[in-house]
This record gives sequence, structure tokens and C-alpha cells, in this order.
Amino acid sequence: MELSGPNISQTIERNIAMELVRVTEAAALSAARHMGLGDKNLVDQEAVAAMRYVLDHIAMDGVVVIGEGEKDEAPMLYIGERIGDGSPPHVDIAVDPIDGTSLCAKGLPGAISAVALSERGTMHCPQRFYYMDKIVTGPEARDYIDINAPVAMNLKAIAAATGRKVTEVTVVVLDRPRHDRLLAEIRAAGARVKLISDGDVAAALEAAMPDREIDVLMGIGGTPEAVLSAAAILCLGGAIQCKAWPRNEEERKAAEEAGEDVDKVYRTEDLVSGSEIFFAATGVSSGDLLKGVRYFRGGAQTNSVAMRNKSGTIRWIESCHNFGRLDKLSDIDLH
Ligand code: FBP
Repeated sequence: MELSGPNISQTIERNIAMELVRVTEAAALSAARHMGLGDKNLVDQEAVAAMRYVLDHIAMDGVVVIGEGEKDEAPMLYIGERIGDGSPPHVDIAVDPIDGTSLCAKGLPGAISAVALSERGTMHCPQRFYYMDKIVTGPEARDYIDINAPVAMNLKAIAAATGRKVTEVTVVVLDRPRHDRLLAEIRAAGARVKLISDGDVAAALEAAMPDREIDVLMGIGGTPEAVLSAAAILCLGGAIQCKAWPRNEEERKAAEEAGEDVDKVYRTEDLVSGSEIFFAATGVSSGDLLKGVRYFRGGAQTNSVAMRNKSGTIRWIESCHNFGRLDKLSDIDLH
């Protein structure tokens, strides 16, 4: 009997989620070297180069759907870039070499490196909008949220679905002036608030995980981050809903003229629609989700999470990296 060629199912046999962890570990290790030095670009460049190097060694035919931007501005991991060794499976890739570049540059908690992968043609990024208004919650409350409903109603629904009072529900929000009204509404409803200065991918993951300090993420953040988060949220069984948040009339008009429905509600499956979804993230600077990179004599330790939608398996991974030995195996300079 003739065997069929490799396909996405065989990829699972090779545990692609674990291969993605190696990608985010490399990015985190490269960026963490520069923590607290105040140089956002350096942090990003190092992470991008390391991520690109490891991704390219994976047996796959990948297309970067969410990356560092257009080809002209981004020499690596630009949208549309082919990545991997070119063999099947054919996949879409979303990368955020560092979510929270400012956090890492300032030595603040919560910077992570993240990557998601799904079957070709299943990741959908509303590219015309830089920002989206988002609401994210976990499995218990996933069917009770509505981004078009008043904030107080969503909080009541989440409290009811999780068997608590609204005063026991914690909302994570990016600390931005654009959220003044949202914050006033959350506070008026009586819920607890956790403000973060950056990094809404890690915050979305926390909101989607049961038994965490955070129950829901609300507010406006990056569009690519919404898609990347959606991949992890699907693995976790939670839900994201989001809507375009045009920055100005010009952005709104341009989108409308291009035929976009600015009021469309994007649900989790509108952002990532496949059934084969993998996600990995590694901590760069220690935060609530993941510990950051910790150095020891001759090496460093990393903390990562790897997920696969089909099985629902979430793996928490502590790795010890020996720089001396890695030097002989890869071109990435970790020193
Ligand atoms: P970067 O690491 O790419 O700078 O993104 C950090 C981040 O906080 C995201 O997590 C979030 O979605 C976005 O920026 C919010 O954008 P802004 O800082 O413009 O409000």
C-alpha cells in the first residue's frame, strides 16, 4: 500500500506545538539580554532574528499572516513572507517576537514572545485597522459576553456564569487615556480593575484561563495581537469578540470605501477558523503568566506555554539552556 504524503495530521505526530516553543524560547533568550537597556528596537530586532532563524528550520511551508509589517519596512517576518523548509504542511503563521517591547526595554514585568500556527488560509487579520476594541473571557463565561452590550451587563453576565458577585470579577485594561470612559463604567459597576501598561496578549491568555486572577480583558489594543490571542483562546476554550476601532475619520472612511464593515463583530472563529491550531509563548520579563529569562552560570532558564486546539492540551515548560553547547548547534548568539 502506498503511503500518502505528509499532511497536517502527521505534523501533529511531530508535535509542532513543541517546535514552536523552541521558536519563542530563542526569541525570548535573544531579547532578554537587552532587558532594561531602554532600547525597544534592539529588543525587537534580536527577537525577530532569532525567531526567524528557528522558524526557518521547521519542516513546513509557512506564510507569515501576522508579522512585523509590510515587506518594505520589515526585512524579516514581514506579512506574506514564506517560512520553513518548504515541505508540507501548508500553514499560516502569526508572530509577535516580543509583545511588550517597551516592557522589556524598561525592565518591567510581562513581556512575552508568542507565535501561533494554523492550517493555510485560516487566519484572518482585519489589516485595515491598527486597533480593535476587545473583550476576552474564559470557558465558563464565553457564551454570555456581547461586545455591543453595556459594560455593566457583560460584568453581570460573567459574574453569573462564574458563580460570583460583580465585585469579585477582575477586569484587565491597558492603561491608556482612551479607556477613561471604559474604566469609569467598570468602576461604576463595582468590578475590580487591573491596569497594565502594555502586553494585551499575555493579559488575554490570563483572561481566557480558568482560576486566574483575571476574569475578563476589556478595551482597545492592537489588531494583530487580537488574532494571535484568538489562536490561544481557541486552545483554552475561551472567547474573544472584537470590533474595529478606527483611530480617526480618515481611517474609518478608507475602510468603508474599501468595502469593510466597520461595525462588524469578529468572534474567535472569525479570526482563526481552522481546527488545527498551535500556540506557544515564552516569558521574557517575569509577569503573572510566565516567568522571564533567568541566567545561571553558562546558561539560562525559560518558562513557556504550548497549546494545541484539537487536544486541548496545555503544556507548561521550564527549560534549561546551556549556552556552550548551543553555540555548537546554532548560529544564534546567546551570549
Ligand atoms: P508592542 O510590543 O508591539 O509595542 O505591543 C505592545 C502592546 O501593548 C500590545 O500588547 C497592545 O495590543 C498594543 O501595544 C496597544 O497599543 P498602544 O500601545 O498603541 O496603545
